[in-house]
Amino acid sequence: MARVKIALASGDGIGPEIMEATLGLFKAAGVMDHVAFEPVEMGASVFAQGNSRGMSDRAVKTVEECGILFKGPMETPKGGGGKSINVTARKLWNAYANLRVFKTLPGVETVYSRAGMTIDMAIVRENIEDTYGGVEHRLSNDTIQCKRLITAPGCDQVHRFALQTARKLGLKRVHCGHKANIMKMTDGLFLERFRQAAKDFPEIEPADVIVDALCMNLVIKPQQYQMIVLPNLQGDIVSDLCAGLVGGLGFAPSANIGTHVSIFEAVHGTAPDIAGKGVANPTSLILSGIMMLRHVGLGHEAATIENALLATLESGVHTGDFGDRNTPAVGTQAFAQAIIERLGSEPKTVPGVTVPAKGGTTFVHSPKPASPPVIRTFKNIVTHVVGCDIYLDSPLSPVALAEEMQRACSDGPFKLSLISNRGTQVWPTGSVYTECVDYYRVRFELRDGVSAGSFGQSRCVALLDRVAESFTVCSYELLRTFDGVKGYSLAQGQ
Ligand code: NAI
Repeated sequence: MARVKIALASGDGIGPEIMEATLGLFKAAGVMDHVAFEPVEMGASVFAQGNSRGMSDRAVKTVEECGILFKGPMETPKGGGGKSINVTARKLWNAYANLRVFKTLPGVETVYSRAGMTIDMAIVRENIEDTYGGVEHRLSNDTIQCKRLITAPGCDQVHRFALQTARKLGLKRVHCGHKANIMKMTDGLFLERFRQAAKDFPEIEPADVIVDALCMNLVIKPQQYQMIVLPNLQGDIVSDLCAGLVGGLGFAPSANIGTHVSIFEAVHGTAPDIAGKGVANPTSLILSGIMMLRHVGLGHEAATIENALLATLESGVHTGDFGDRNTPAVGTQAFAQAIIERLGSEPKTVPGVTVPAKGGTTFVHSPKPASPPVIRTFKNIVTHVVGCDIYLDSPLSPVALAEEMQRACSDGPFKLSLISNRGTQVWPTGSVYTECVDYYRVRFELRDGVSAGSFGQSRCVALLDRVAESFTVCSYELLRTFDGVKGYSLAQGQ
């Protein structure tokens, strides 16, 4: 039987130790009959060769050929322009959904386990967009901007993945976490696409929750959630919060799922303080490996290992970072060996997982695209230019600025409709108590009697050119309608 090829990067710091322990366990559970691991060069040693991506060309090729990467934690070089290899890998291969599973584990004491509260939930975090695009600019002496991009196809991918996973797990309800009460357009789109996607999953109840309330609810009553899907930054924060509920990052596995490449990794870092000592806890990597085995169809092996891990934790065997301080801790390899000894056993104090019948892998690698695919959700929408926002670096007062801007647009199709500062309207009305910084938004909209669609963007560009003759333009956005709906937000106070 052909074996599934999986690219393997052990990582830095404790990475090689916990990877060795995990692979030993996989071998003992018969995983190697179905999987061939292909080592790839990624991480600190590659950064040290001056490769700012942290992965060799050969590693990139192997990962793309395999379609799956199993990785240990990797060090991000401090300073020097080296970007996080983890973020690079997710973005390069469009691993758009980050799935993390949080379960109460026996032998891992938390305030919740002591209170008899059992946690079993999943977070699906959008993994590519949002502020993680890293599109940042200094716009003026005092102002820096980070662009927050949320796209309809990006939302659709992550929501469909979340709902499909919920369906597979037999979940009854999925929550969409968001901040659409404030970011009505970006988070509004995320929520709207969630509701749209949920229509194809009638057996699952779609619910939504504002992210700040979600954080409070998670701390007070975490059992009320089964799965939560969130935008990138909110998902990043909430998933670490959830890791804390079940005992910390060492117990939370992570899968980064994409159309062509998926990455399975431990969520903790390289733990430089204990690297090389043989004492690291391999549980997070083992749990991530279990997710990966299920991803390739090895449900039998995944369930067998999971039950053995639960039985081991239940027996009180523990590494130094958790467990009963009155019983001596074991090292990384001894911990893995304890799991190996329990392969075939089930936990007694908590429910084990059902072990499906033995079968081969079901993984089918999707074909390599000829060029980067363009993914689209909306087509055939009628758009019209109705004005522009010009952002200026200016020390003037709002009233003085308004006079200049009215002069600039006096003979064109636009009128000055508002000036705002940090999103708050300061002209034509405003409060003297609104403190202004050196970065203004000046909004021009069609004069009365000029109809939308009567010209394209060139008149806006001409106005921009005129303003730029005497002002420092920091940035510029067209104002457009989409099927008659405004494609821009109003200022606070407008
Ligand atoms: P860290 O997670 O490596 O360490 C934080 C604390 O947790 C340390 O006291 C460490 O000893 C402990 N710890 C972490 N994993 C453990 C394990 N498996 N067993 C026992 N104890 C464990 O976070 P830190 O110190 O902020 O980052 C160190 C390096 O790791 C940095 O270079 C960072 O960029 C990188 N990193 C990599 C990640 C990845 O590859 N996915 C994720 C987070 C950080």
